Amino acid sequence: LIHLLTTEGLPKRILTQILDQAAEYVENGELLNNKWQDLAGTSVFNLFFENSTRTRTTFELAAKRLSGDVSSLNIQASSTAKGETLLDTIHNLEAMGANLFVVRHSESGAAHLIAKHVKKGIAVVNAGDGRHAHPTQAMLDMFTIRHFKGDFTKLRVAIVGDVLHSRVARSQIHALSTLGCPEIRVIAPKTLLPTGIEQLGVHVYHDMAEGLKDVDVIAMLRLQNERMAGAFLPSTQEFFKYYGLTPEKLALAKPDAIVMHPGPMNRGVEIDSAVADGPQAVILPQVTFGIAVRMAVLAIVARNQKANK
Ligand code: CP
Repeated sequence: LIHLLTTEGLPKRILTQILDQAAEYVENGELLNNKWQDLAGTSVFNLFFENSTRTRTTFELAAKRLSGDVSSLNIQASSTAKGETLLDTIHNLEAMGANLFVVRHSESGAAHLIAKHVKKGIAVVNAGDGRHAHPTQAMLDMFTIRHFKGDFTKLRVAIVGDVLHSRVARSQIHALSTLGCPEIRVIAPKTLLPTGIEQLGVHVYHDMAEGLKDVDVIAMLRLQNERMAGAFLPSTQEFFKYYGLTPEKLALAKPDAIVMHPGPMNRGVEIDSAVADGPQAVILPQVTFGIAVRMAVLAIVARNQKANK
């Protein structure tokens, strides 16, 4: 693993390596207090050209736990606002000794573009690009599923909501499929599904009652209003009526099903507060596990960087 840009095409061996290393951080000490040395001497630059609470903060915490030198650029206050190009910004940060870039961007492919143009030996981790991919979110979701449910090969997973605009859904589907999940369902209105989604091996449902029946894991998605320009925009009341996860709809899944959400949540739009704050929700553990998974990704990438020097 030189860069982490997507879960698509990543072999099971690498996905499992990330999960196992994250598990070590969780099990071998106080995740929120301990310090490790994996990134000692490594300069990590967090470049978030799009808003974030969870990903940006947990990447920063992860780098600090691993003793890395981390700088989080305030893009609004940076020279990007004066018109500096993405690649000029990158090359200037390289000149400051950057070893690793963590990049979020509203344009699909931005992290790939940077990875193509960075100096040899500098790594790029995609923290979400447009509708395309959000690999560390998918990996923390995989970690959460494995933690609460164990073996992927026995699970029925439903991904629910705005699949069309979701980089999370795409990355989850690739990871689940590589890890051997035998039944991945997507539940969404036709207008919020990308054409050809079935080619990824998922089962498509438009009805929550059918799609949620007997599932082990429900992965909710945010209705992504910021990406809806020109697209069908359902009223929030209408969306909630048909696709919002309420206690009644949750009761159709297995009694011990877990409910995930990547955040930020639109309460009362895709998820009812009674579910979001209820006993089956694992939404806050997802956030905590995100630190361990991002630590694992940074540590593995940095280790490979050193090995390839
Ligand atoms: N899930 C996620 O990416 O959240 P943020 O946008 O807050 O980082």
